Amino acid sequence: MLRFEYHNLLASKMFPSAIPVDKLSEYTSACDAAHKEILSDRQVDILGFYNLPEQSIEHIVDFMAKLDPMFDTMVVLGIGGSALGNKALYSALRTEQELPRKLFVYDNVDPIFLHEILSSINMDSTIFNVITKSGTTAETMAGYMILMDIIKQRFPSDYRKRMIITTDKEKGFLRQIIKTEGYTSFIVPDNVGGRFSVLTDVGLVSSAFTGMDIGELLRGAAAMRDRCQTTDILANPAYLNGLIHFLYYRQGKNISVMMPYSNSLYDFADWYRQLWAESLGKRKDIKNRDIYVGQTPVKALGTTDQHSQVQLYAEGPNDKIFTFLTVENFKHDYVIPNLHPDREEVSYLGGRKLSELLNAERFATEIALSQAMRPNCNLIFPQIDEYHLGEFIMMYEIMTVFTGKLLHINPLDQPGVEAGKIATYALMGKAGFDKERAGIDSYKKELGLH
Ligand code: PA5
Repeated sequence: MLRFEYHNLLASKMFPSAIPVDKLSEYTSACDAAHKEILSDRQVDILGFYNLPEQSIEHIVDFMAKLDPMFDTMVVLGIGGSALGNKALYSALRTEQELPRKLFVYDNVDPIFLHEILSSINMDSTIFNVITKSGTTAETMAGYMILMDIIKQRFPSDYRKRMIITTDKEKGFLRQIIKTEGYTSFIVPDNVGGRFSVLTDVGLVSSAFTGMDIGELLRGAAAMRDRCQTTDILANPAYLNGLIHFLYYRQGKNISVMMPYSNSLYDFADWYRQLWAESLGKRKDIKNRDIYVGQTPVKALGTTDQHSQVQLYAEGPNDKIFTFLTVENFKHDYVIPNLHPDREEVSYLGGRKLSELLNAERFATEIALSQAMRPNCNLIFPQIDEYHLGEFIMMYEIMTVFTGKLLHINPLDQPGVEAGKIATYALMGKAGFDKERAGIDSYKKELGLH
């Protein structure tokens, strides 16, 4: 079971200026109200991620059973919620599980990045997975057209089996293409938003392809969801962490740093950044009043960033709350040999495991930050596997929605991102965006830009 250590978030002898535990009970009615809103959202079916552990995965098992065994690599084309979870799961498990098949995620429109992926794969044994809920995102569509053109030219007789598409079940341009061309397709459910969709076909298909046990992922998610049904705040890790983040945010902790002490979990800090930033960074509250809220999520890597960021974290502005991710048991470990037993500079390391040093350094950072009165908590993975990752995903999705309710904002929309998408359409000459294009032209004229 994923363990949540939160003693350095609450006031203690060591950390007298932290939030007193009594403060939590002042928010009982706010938490109950947030909980009720979540229940009613679930009833009107807009929080579909809660029910994903019970979904059928037969169609994915079937896809894998029928898949041509020549495919040993998948390239996902997607961005944001249609890419970050895939990447995070793969980088967490590829070394832990020695996954038999490879995954690349092309989640940008950088030509060098595309070139790098194309030069690392064998086209003959690669299947492409275009993932876009809306079916219109410019970045993903550009990648789809480039790749489709390449594979059509190279494999004119069987290009169809080399591309699968994951999109809305009815809407969007890609669904029409699926119908006319007959590609294998998967669905992004209506009731699950992009950044909450890693446990849908969006994340499950690529995970099953690489060799992960997606059933275990869902079992972990179910266990965490069940653990987070209670309104007893101290027994509900998602609500507790959400409430405490909310209270610290109200006290000026505008930055939330997630710092895994594990390279394998680093991409999960990226997944968290999107979830927290896009869900909670909002101009309007639910009554449409300007409130401009949101805590800035930052990722850091232990121990690497101890030599880059921790100076700032310990002595700079006290405007951050920290979450460490700790791994107790690593699949591979090394003992540091005692090469210089007579030299005290290094002999203390001799005979100790690398993982022991890593976790000692994490604890040392926790102590240093607590002594500097910087609130911090720790999520402990007994080991990195599908079950614990499923727990982690569900905990953070629930925590994000709950915190959104405490902030009185809608955690499920992203109007700020939509504005950027529209400006891109206008700049790139998409039909129907003449008004926006004219606005951009006059802006450019004013600045003397061409
Ligand atoms: O969370 C979200 O909704 C967004 O981040 C989307 O995932 C992202 O914009 C990609 O959208 P789409 O899947 O429609 O291409």
